[in-house]
Amino acid sequence: MSPVRTRFEFGKNWHDYAKRNFSQDKVEISKRHILEFMCRETLRGLTFLDIGCGSGLHSLAALQAGVSSVYGFDFDMESIVAARFVKEQAGSPDNWSVEQGSILDDDFVSRMPQFDLVYAWGVLHHTGDVWQAIRNAAGKVKPGGFFYMALYSADVQIDPPPQFWLDIKQKYVSSGKLYRRFMEIWYIWRFQMHRNIFLLPLFLKGMISYRENRGMNIFTDIRDWLGGWPMEFVRDGDAISFCKDIGLRLENIATGQANTEFLFKRKR
Ligand SMILES: C[S@@+](CC[C@H](N)C(=O)[O-])C[C@H]1O[C@@H](n2cnc3c(N)ncnc32)[C@H](O)[C@@H]1O
Repeated sequence: MSPVRTRFEFGKNWHDYAKRNFSQDKVEISKRHILEFMCRETLRGLTFLDIGCGSGLHSLAALQAGVSSVYGFDFDMESIVAARFVKEQAGSPDNWSVEQGSILDDDFVSRMPQFDLVYAWGVLHHTGDVWQAIRNAAGKVKPGGFFYMALYSADVQIDPPPQFWLDIKQKYVSSGKLYRRFMEIWYIWRFQMHRNIFLLPLFLKGMISYRENRGMNIFTDIRDWLGGWPMEFVRDGDAISFCKDIGLRLENIATGQANTEFLFKRKR
């Protein structure tokens, strides 16, 4: 398949999600997830950078976990609209700013200070240059600070392999609305119901409990998964060695899901 230059409209997906799904319950689930993974009871006093903030839900979760300020940015202007909508729902806190920008834009990145906690969940593999994106993001971690990132793992995509999904994503992102709906149904039928109609009740049950997954919505995530382009899969071990070489020590890792979560700490 020839390379497709189009990008997935992440922002539109996040704006739809925020308008339809935003609730304090979901913020609470995300907050619990962040605190549990970081093995902390609070993020009190930390400055927080949310790279590729999407809906802004996790920025708000960090604020509610006690961070002293949040700076969120995203490449896609409609993600910014979504995050500003969520910020408004939260009473427009003064210590939360949201801007448009790219982690690959060296000028933009160099104007930012360093932060106690840099968060990039499901973002850096969608930039078109995952290693440069990791390097730029890690450069924004203060000495003694934390880098929390999640990357699509090449280790869990065995059958079908990563190339299958890269082809699917290119097809989805270059298709019209109708064909995209068809592909979403095909995905649910093949990968969620395993081509077995008797698994429909299980899928419906899973749909309801899916919100426990960082407060997300299954249909938003299916569109994000099928459409998320550009996209690179990363081996967990490669991410760990790369981060070690740039001065970060692995503190925690969660594997086995499509995204591997990593928590690194920068040496003082
Ligand atoms: C899968 S979404 C994740 C959103 C959010 N972090 C979350 O966990 O819900 C990926 C986000 O990364 C953003 N993104 C892609 N390339 C980017 C770049 N170069 N700089 C900043 N954000 C980018 C997309 O616009 C999108 O909102």
